[in-house]
Amino acid sequence: MGARLVVISNRVPVPDPEGPPAAGGLAVAVMAALRGREGIWFGWSGQVSDDPSDEPRTQVHDGISYVVIDLKEQDFEEYYNGFANRVLWPILHYRVDLAEFNRADLSGYVRVNQRFALALSRILRPDDLVWVHDYHLMPLARLLRAQGHYNRIGFFLHIPVPPPDLIAALPHHADILGALVDYDLVGVQTDNDRENLRRYLRSRGADRTGDPDVLALPDQRVRLGAYPVGIETDEFTRMAEASAGSDIVGEMTESLGGRALVIGVDRLDYSKGITHRLDAIERFLAHAPEWRARVTFLQVTPKSRVEIPEYAALQEAVSGTAGRINGAYGDVSWTPIRYVNRSYAREELAALYRLARVGLVTPLRDGMNLVAKEYVAAQDPGDPGVLVLSQFAGAAAELDRALLVNPHEPEAVAAAILRALEMPLAERVERHASMIEVLRRNDVSHWAENFITDLTGHPASSEIRETEP
Ligand code: UDP
Ligand code: G6P
Repeated sequence: MGARLVVISNRVPVPDPEGPPAAGGLAVAVMAALRGREGIWFGWSGQVSDDPSDEPRTQVHDGISYVVIDLKEQDFEEYYNGFANRVLWPILHYRVDLAEFNRADLSGYVRVNQRFALALSRILRPDDLVWVHDYHLMPLARLLRAQGHYNRIGFFLHIPVPPPDLIAALPHHADILGALVDYDLVGVQTDNDRENLRRYLRSRGADRTGDPDVLALPDQRVRLGAYPVGIETDEFTRMAEASAGSDIVGEMTESLGGRALVIGVDRLDYSKGITHRLDAIERFLAHAPEWRARVTFLQVTPKSRVEIPEYAALQEAVSGTAGRINGAYGDVSWTPIRYVNRSYAREELAALYRLARVGLVTPLRDGMNLVAKEYVAAQDPGDPGVLVLSQFAGAAAELDRALLVNPHEPEAVAAAILRALEMPLAERVERHASMIEVLRRNDVSHWAENFITDLTGHPASSEIRETEP
């Protein structure tokens, strides 16, 4: 069975036998990594309490131990709402203009990472393999090393890495992104992200080594790799096939009344380009009048990070724009845009994707975008829908047979919607076949396996230091 795998992420979706299964890309990816291993998943419970215990709580489900701690209100504000989501999230998504830095939030971020390190110290064994996920926890290896943990520690960043000049806009970046050198392996989504990170670390004094994937500082060596995160491709296809005859398919088909469905599924987040997409839909309705009343746009948009002002403002902007377009183009029997703020279970999403003739995935910047991959996996290979995909989603590097668009040009997105709706069957089949093959080759199990193989298959930074003269 090998060493224990200890996975750490900000949020841990402890399975709730009463509730729906864990949704969301990171959660599915982590489950794939833990499958078949002796594993622990450590992180925040998602709960805030006045006086949280330092002693983590453990629950075991299907052989995986879920070990969680609560956060204090101040931690939640400074670490999660503050530094992670009002500073790191915008800057790493190339939105320096939206970053709201203050020192209290930075201290809260480091303090919570320190709490994670202390709580982990109680459970870590020397031969555990440690895998840390995402931007909330970048300094964790440094803090664990300071407590004497010389385990192999890997880090995977699910979101983009911008060029070094943008990283430089992050106050104290050397203590945050610079601290990534304390990991043995740092994985990112695309070659572009890896190149940006490599250039940033080189600008901070890291040297090349004989291995092109490894950088060295006097006391550290860090391996960098691109590991595009995948989905459970065959499982998604199976769920979509099985949805025929389900309630949601029946209700949706009836309510469509023969109209074509175009679907968008995104957390309500400014990185997803939802208002730009609505502008493109408006252009489409203006310039393709023959399609009016023959197409329905469904936008599924669960609310996210609701306490952050930029997210509240976005909610207003999106619902206002959707309302305006519906007012301008709708009539008594047809509403062009159905805008829904709730979240759906994976099975329901698979069903909706399969019904949709077009998947509209147009983020302004996205680490990967799993919705794009899920949409492709859910299609009927004999009569597939068409994916319209932003060139700025990490997924565009693999899904190059989608209709790739620049989301900043509404006319181009509108033209791609029209082309997708009118694309002949043979072209749809050929594009889908090429993309599904990519998704089968690199599904989420391969992704996890590749990362773990690279984490375990090379000498750890600490071993190299011991053997060097
Ligand atoms: N998702 C879901 N229910 C919803 C909306 C989204 O389960 O109502 C899932 C979706 O299937 C996907 C994930 O949330 O697996 C979103 O991942 P993505 O990479 O597209 O974007 P993120 O939200 O991680 O930025
Ligand atoms: C993105 C991030 C994840 C995060 C998810 C939902 O996928 O990469 O780390 O968990 O969004 O955001 P939330 O703030 O609700 O955890």
